[in-house]
Amino acid sequence: MFTVRKDWKVDQTIILGLFSDNFTEVFEEISDLNGFNLKPYIESGSISTGPRQVERLLLSSDGEFRRVYFFGLGSSEDLTRDEYKRIMGYAFQTLQKDGVQNPALVLDSFIPKGWDVQETASLIGEVMLTSTYVLPSFKTGAQKEKEEQRLTVLTSEEPETIQTALEKGSAYADGVNTGRYLVHLPANVLTPSELAEFARTMAEDYDFTYKVLEKQDMEELGMGALLAVNQGSVEPPKMIVMKYQGLEDWSDVTALVGKGITYDTGGYSIKTKTGMPGMKGDMGGAAAVLGAMETIGQLKPKKNVIAVIPSSDNMISGEAFKPDDVITSMSGKTIEVLNTDAEGRLALADGVTYAQKEGADRVIDVATLTGGVVTALGSWMTGAMTNDQAFYHAVEQSGQTVGEPIWLLPYNEDYKAQVRKSDIADLNNSPTRKAHAIMGGAFVGAFVENVPWVHLDIAGTSTSEGAYELGPKGPTGVMAKTLAHYVIQ
Ligand code: BES
Ligand code: MN
Ligand code: ZN
Repeated sequence: MFTVRKDWKVDQTIILGLFSDNFTEVFEEISDLNGFNLKPYIESGSISTGPRQVERLLLSSDGEFRRVYFFGLGSSEDLTRDEYKRIMGYAFQTLQKDGVQNPALVLDSFIPKGWDVQETASLIGEVMLTSTYVLPSFKTGAQKEKEEQRLTVLTSEEPETIQTALEKGSAYADGVNTGRYLVHLPANVLTPSELAEFARTMAEDYDFTYKVLEKQDMEELGMGALLAVNQGSVEPPKMIVMKYQGLEDWSDVTALVGKGITYDTGGYSIKTKTGMPGMKGDMGGAAAVLGAMETIGQLKPKKNVIAVIPSSDNMISGEAFKPDDVITSMSGKTIEVLNTDAEGRLALADGVTYAQKEGADRVIDVATLTGGVVTALGSWMTGAMTNDQAFYHAVEQSGQTVGEPIWLLPYNEDYKAQVRKSDIADLNNSPTRKAHAIMGGAFVGAFVENVPWVHLDIAGTSTSEGAYELGPKGPTGVMAKTLAHYVIQ
């Protein structure tokens, strides 16, 4: 996918970046590219260096010609990683629209002043693949096989180090795109069984330990919470379990638990006709976890991870669970069901319990859990809760680094008390509309036994309303990078 070279003799389309503040230094070296003199163009000052300004040139010399793109990058002063990535996304989308294949990118011209070259190369590798990602389409005649994207990188650095950096970026991008792909698939295609198949293939590719708990296993283990959610469905539930062991021993284990509700009708507490479309994406947490595992599988850190994905759809039938039902979770805790639409926390309860039984030393759960978090934070930040500030801080830092901002919601005794209010059982699954994003997290938290825990509610961030510079409209693959980064760093 990447070819990295030191010599700049190419017969390809050439891509150059122009910062407003440092371009002359860089271009001294490359001004005479294969005898195609770029110097006058650059020195003329007539090529804009403003961010997202694109200049296309066709140069000829001795009967040969080169296509050259100048991408304006603005000033490298005060440039944030996020803005840099968006500008680069715009550049790659421009090349995609123009149908340019395997262009030669002059890396030195794209490094903002003072930035680490390898780190910047990683960002470029990541953005090339995330910004131009095409979601699968069911339109007749839609292209089924995707062409491999190729990029040649011309550098004055050691090619191997740049190659490694680019591949690190593409590993993160593959995680994001896996997440997007899964969220995009409709629920009649991506059933819990298909999700499990997808995970199995991934486990084979990366040599993860793979196990899926079937309905009968769940019955034996007493996973009454996940089973209750599945009760009205003709699709069997799956508890997908993958282990990646990068350490000698199975210790110091991070558990990633992702909500895998392949469709959420709300059950008998049914959603409205406008509230239901989009609920194919209710396995966004599972998608984030699988995305992170994709990245982890490629980068192979010396860390231990267990991925746990409780999966079912939430349907209605004569056999479905109902409000007022009392169910018993795997932990032994009983739950009064007040709302069958608060199904994600039920699935997660058994997922979190199972992860701890498998030796998790810390747990991150990730879920499209509540409309409440969308009201609170919109689509700009992922809502979080925690029982351990230091652990939260590390996860939040990872989010910042990879460009997936996270905001902490409160979690104290008053909130914890709400989910314990029941005349008939240990817990109730839907105390009140008040602070209901927090109620969702607090319910999951009730199943965490003395291990550091972070809860990530991605109901608002898992999909985007419009296309943007880092990807298509729709699924964002959010938290795949954050989870992977937390594990790897
Ligand atoms: N899957 C939904 C949450 C959701 C809402 C995800 C919007 C994405 C976009 C979840 O299962 C749900 O229905 N939550 C309820 C909880 C309520 C019944 C306590 C909600 O948020 O309204
Ligand atoms: Mn629901
Ligand atoms: Zn749901």
